[in-house]
Amino acid sequence: MSVEGSAPGAAGAEIDTSKPHPARMYDYYLGGKNHFAADRETAEKGLAGWKAGRLAARENRAFLGRAVRFLATEAGIRQFLDIGTGLPTTNNVHEVAQAVVPSARVVYADNDPLVLAHARALLTSSPEGRTAYIHADLRDPQSILSNPSVQEVLDFGRPIALMLVAVLHFVPDEYKPAQVLAELIGALPSGSYLVASHITGEHDPVGPATGARAYRAAGLPAQLRDSDQFAQLAFSGLDLVPPGVVLVSEWRPEADGPHPSAAEVSWYGGVARIP
Ligand SMILES: C[S@@+](CC[C@H](N)C(=O)[O-])C[C@H]1O[C@@H](n2cnc3c(N)ncnc32)[C@H](O)[C@@H]1O
Repeated sequence: MSVEGSAPGAAGAEIDTSKPHPARMYDYYLGGKNHFAADRETAEKGLAGWKAGRLAARENRAFLGRAVRFLATEAGIRQFLDIGTGLPTTNNVHEVAQAVVPSARVVYADNDPLVLAHARALLTSSPEGRTAYIHADLRDPQSILSNPSVQEVLDFGRPIALMLVAVLHFVPDEYKPAQVLAELIGALPSGSYLVASHITGEHDPVGPATGARAYRAAGLPAQLRDSDQFAQLAFSGLDLVPPGVVLVSEWRPEADGPHPSAAEVSWYGGVARIP
């Protein structure tokens, strides 16, 4: 595996524990150990309004695993570019993919310096596969596409799955997310896939909005989108895999039994093929 910390945007990247960061807050929701007081404080402000926030984060993480398994088993995908990776936790993309196809290759990218710090220790690979980590910002897609580790590990002549799971809501409209997506998707060959998920206020007008407000008050960009806005932003011109854009809990669920309500989940997901 390789870790690339000198990508544009990584210069001077230092771990600042006095300010909250989405990766560490998400780790807190998932029950991980890599968070600090500032992360917990902002996370609790959001959870005060969105009681099901933790459950929703777990549903999103489970969706990510099912989507990767689908791509590896049914869509023949062997390469993944996972932007907005989060702190290493259970079922990291390469673990899920390499359990199906040991030779799978994964490049991870995140803009949190703490994710960079943990990447070296935790993002291991099967001997047949490859993993790499780059410190990079989704809002600067060219820096990701031109990164030497990305170019070395991924073969842009073969299909690649672009993973934007739980990260687009950190790219409000003023950062031109549609252009970011167009640049990333435009670099991928036909037969590639996009996996994306996004928090919504459509089913609970109070909870997720409280969470988004807590993020913004802490200086973190955040924007909720409804299903149409998310589908148009992420999947315009792509061939959505059934069941389309649905609550993450409803995307090819593996377990029987009662599912959480739409208001509790408040998180859309989808997988689409790039024609
Ligand atoms: C909620 S976590 C999602 C982690 C993982 N993708 C998942 O769904 O389980 C969002 C991640 O996106 C990262 N992130 C937020 N804005 C970003 C940006 N502009 N560029 C790269 N990563 C970003 C955060 O640091 C965090 O690790």
